[in-house]
Amino acid sequence: MLRSERIAGWGRDALLLPRVALLAARAPRDWRRGWDRYWGSVTTTGVGGDVLWDTGDLDEVPTYRTLILEQLDTSLPLVDAGCGNGRFTRGLAPLFPTTIGVDLARTAIKLARRESAGCADLSFDTLDLTVPDAARPLAAAIGGDANVFVRGVFHVLAPADRPVAARNLRTLVGSRGRVLLAETNFPGSKMDYLRHLGASPRHIPDPLRRAIVDTPAPRHFGDAERRTAFPAADWAVVDDGVVDILAIPMHDTPTPAVEHIPGYYAILASTAVSNSEALNAEPSNTEPTRR
Ligand SMILES: C[S@@+](CC[C@H](N)C(=O)[O-])C[C@H]1O[C@@H](n2cnc3c(N)ncnc32)[C@H](O)[C@@H]1O
Repeated sequence: MLRSERIAGWGRDALLLPRVALLAARAPRDWRRGWDRYWGSVTTTGVGGDVLWDTGDLDEVPTYRTLILEQLDTSLPLVDAGCGNGRFTRGLAPLFPTTIGVDLARTAIKLARRESAGCADLSFDTLDLTVPDAARPLAAAIGGDANVFVRGVFHVLAPADRPVAARNLRTLVGSRGRVLLAETNFPGSKMDYLRHLGASPRHIPDPLRRAIVDTPAPRHFGDAERRTAFPAADWAVVDDGVVDILAIPMHDTPTPAVEHIPGYYAILASTAVSNSEALNAEPSNTEPTRR
């Protein structure tokens, strides 16, 4: 990069940063409340809607469908973890016998149910992945191993919460299920990312403004972050690579085009025993019989 370009970049940051800081200052202290408020304020989804990462029909489903058909056992149920308004839950449900979307935010689950009215073999429930053992009741209700799809969730979790979330996914997959993870992994700074998504000192597109106000700032999530969140003792990498994550058009151009964000995907297998075996096994912590 030329010196003049770098200086111009700092100048733009100096003007954009205070606007972003002002918006972020309105975020609730508790990020869980932020997600609830975010989804509660959404009125329209898809292209032209409120949700930055919901491109409606112009989506990534074909990419994930190919990975799933090649590498997952589709006779198992699917859990869409951090499902939001359930766009991918609905898009992937036809591949599996049953599909369950779970999300931290009650308002997301309410919206997902509303948008999925009439869809067969699909249900939604609340679940906070960052609470230890939170997935146990769901694993017991499923009664065996399940696949997990998770898109755009780990990059908004604090690094300390990620291994807890991964352990919850491990509870669900047992030995036969797989995790299909897809996360944004933008290489630049947070300001570069915002500019990439159409923010300028004069204008911040509304879907981006909503995300800045109510949701945690995105972080990188690539191979290095996956290694820490999904340690090698618990997880084997079946496949991983780069993926194109799409966002709704936000640049004010004559022919608005979908935004492309560099992303990372991984297909992961747990080193654990099958859930059906674990659920049928004698509890390991039974009291020794008294003589
Ligand atoms: C960027 S959105 C992605 C939504 C959806 N996966 C998609 O790609 O359309 C992140 C989602 O993760 C959910 N989420 C954030 N933290 C979570 C947690 N600790 N447990 C469960 N869901 C969480 C948010 O409510 C939000 O719906």
